Amino acid sequence: MTPHAVKKRIILDVDTGHDDALAIIMAASDKRLELLGITVTAGNQILEKTLKNTLNVTQALGLNVPVYSGMHRPLLQDLATAERIHGESGLDGPVFRPPVRGAEPLHAVQYLIDTVMKEPVGSITLVAVGPLTNIAMAVRLCPDFAHRLSELIIMGGSMTHGNVTPSAEFNIHADPESASIVFSSGAPLVMIGLDCTTRVTLTDALYDRFAGISGPAGYIFSASMAHYIRSCKQYIGESPAMHDPCCVAWAVNPSIFTWKNHFVAIECRGNYTRGRTIVDQTGVSSEKPNAKVVYAIQPEPFWEQLEASLRHFSNVS
Ligand code: BDR
Ligand code: CA
Repeated sequence: MTPHAVKKRIILDVDTGHDDALAIIMAASDKRLELLGITVTAGNQILEKTLKNTLNVTQALGLNVPVYSGMHRPLLQDLATAERIHGESGLDGPVFRPPVRGAEPLHAVQYLIDTVMKEPVGSITLVAVGPLTNIAMAVRLCPDFAHRLSELIIMGGSMTHGNVTPSAEFNIHADPESASIVFSSGAPLVMIGLDCTTRVTLTDALYDRFAGISGPAGYIFSASMAHYIRSCKQYIGESPAMHDPCCVAWAVNPSIFTWKNHFVAIECRGNYTRGRTIVDQTGVSSEKPNAKVVYAIQPEPFWEQLEASLRHFSNVS
């Protein structure tokens, strides 16, 4: 990067569990990105816990990035957390000092709207790695919101099977109505679903490759991934996928991904399929594509980016 290269300005919307924490580390450390703020939603755990986890991670890393608390439950349904994977705290494993700084007084949804409306059109990239409740609220409250984004990169959905039901992926299943609002909003969407994220799973060998990295990011990685690996093996029978970090990797370097433009709708009604992303891969619906749907990622450049992010904090005590 030349000294004058313009950084991509991003806002991260999280429900901080284990892979969200890695997404924060990657977003905060990459010199090609400027992390403007972090908005938090309920999802992997209740809002109180996902907010605390976010503040713990930002404080441990020594970040000066404002954190905004957002929606405490989905639009229509009850909150169903991913406690069995992410644990009682939502980020079981690492131990943190009590957070000194709290969330900003402004609500996350208002922060999203204010920031996107005051900055030039097409200058903000929004990376959403939790249920889409905050984003749907911004879309509904502010008709111009979606169209002013440079890109809306979403971790969610699947073209094949789900991970919370046979049909649905967690973030979409957690709030299908919000997902439906967002996918039909006209925002420049990138859907990074399980088809892509399950191609970068943290095997024991990869864990060993990164676990010795010093500094707070290395610590968060080692302590949190030890838990994540255990719970994913126990409940899913596999090493954990690096779901949320894939979205930050796209923000930095989309050339390591393969993708196609497709029309995507959200199933909000099916008995067995609620929360499914219906991806029209053949064009049979004649609907105009509304998303770049990501099929795959090259693993090694991804692991190198993660490693560089962990090492970035090596000298922070
Ligand atoms: C998604 O669900 C959450 O548990 C993870 O943080 C990720 O955003 C994967 O389905
Ligand atoms: Ca998440």
